Amino acid sequence: MTSLKGRLRPPGDKSISHRALIFEAMSGKTCDIHGLADGDDVSTTRDCLAHVGKGQLDCRNSGTTMRLLSGYLAPMAADFELVGDQSLSKRPMDWVATPLTQMGASFELHEGRFPPVRLKGGPLTAIEYELPVTSAQVKGAILLAGSMAEGTTIVTESRPTRDHTERMLQAFGADVVFGPGQIKVRPSTIEVFHLDVPGDISSAAFHIAAACLVADSEIVIEDVGLNPTRLGFLDLLSAMGANIETMLQTEKPEPTGEVVARSSQLHAITIEGDDIPRAIDEIPLLALLATQAEGTTIIRNAEELRAKESDRIKTICEGLRHLGANVEEVADGIVVSGPTRLSGGTVNSYGDHRIAMTFAVAGLISTDVINIEGWDCVSISYPGFARDLESLMK
Ligand code: S3P
Repeated sequence: MTSLKGRLRPPGDKSISHRALIFEAMSGKTCDIHGLADGDDVSTTRDCLAHVGKGQLDCRNSGTTMRLLSGYLAPMAADFELVGDQSLSKRPMDWVATPLTQMGASFELHEGRFPPVRLKGGPLTAIEYELPVTSAQVKGAILLAGSMAEGTTIVTESRPTRDHTERMLQAFGADVVFGPGQIKVRPSTIEVFHLDVPGDISSAAFHIAAACLVADSEIVIEDVGLNPTRLGFLDLLSAMGANIETMLQTEKPEPTGEVVARSSQLHAITIEGDDIPRAIDEIPLLALLATQAEGTTIIRNAEELRAKESDRIKTICEGLRHLGANVEEVADGIVVSGPTRLSGGTVNSYGDHRIAMTFAVAGLISTDVINIEGWDCVSISYPGFARDLESLMK
């Protein structure tokens, strides 16, 4: 079997890229931004920003676009309509509509919950809001609106989610303070800024997982974001016994560095609580890794996964089971007993980029070929994924 060797710089971080484009729009100037993510979701945010004031905004598959733009648009005295594709049209938007309505905007949603989002913006007033869902997109929407609202907006969260919005607000001159569990923002002006977007740890995660699973492998991921709120995957993989190392190289505005990953013997762990949001996009991949780990891995408190691009608890379980893994779907997670040898076969990505790439990694260790239905969806976050993975196969 081929091993994985070499160095790779992953594409720019998707979460930071969406926000960079929105902050540039807020600054009203052209900013010096390098290394934006090249996937469809970030193009969607760019296209929507270019069309503000020109009719319907098509957020396609991107929940981040729809939620963050709701916060960005809410302070503007105008009417907006945000629509999405079939997957996005099933994702809850009352999560952002509820706090933004409390701030003074008005929303009309399909069945009171879903896209299309009809939004009437206007002058906003600050709120104090405790997040009822664990979501950085919701937190981000409130903070964007809060930076344009009268008064001090305070957001508290019981489980820490990615903190890119608050870090970038601070780096770009906003009046914001944040510490564990709480962020306060006041009316602010965004200064023109320079930004080098670090590589995306959530995209690199697929190569890191592949290196751990395939014998005789050693890869180096360069210039990748190492924000502590995004490091759940690496921490959990280490807890499973993986042979990985991280080297922090820069701190501001986003911690960035290198990750070395080598072939590893894995054992089962329990994944729950605060580790869930820190690894939210990598849970399907961790479920795959758990099929190769000794013992029973329990993933719980992960109910938010059911409201992603697909119901990720259901879609990953269906595919892994089809490949011969011993997985059980529970309401808020997955139970995986390993190790099991994975067979080949046809699995459905359900149009979900992270599910498709997880099955591609499975294909490196399966006894037979895996056909992935709906493969094209990888372009949502990582159009160059197959090329990058092949570049590491020696
Ligand atoms: C994101 C937050 C996460 C993540 C998504 C991107 C963001 O969702 O799953 O891919 O950029 O804020 P949550 O809103 O559930 O935290």
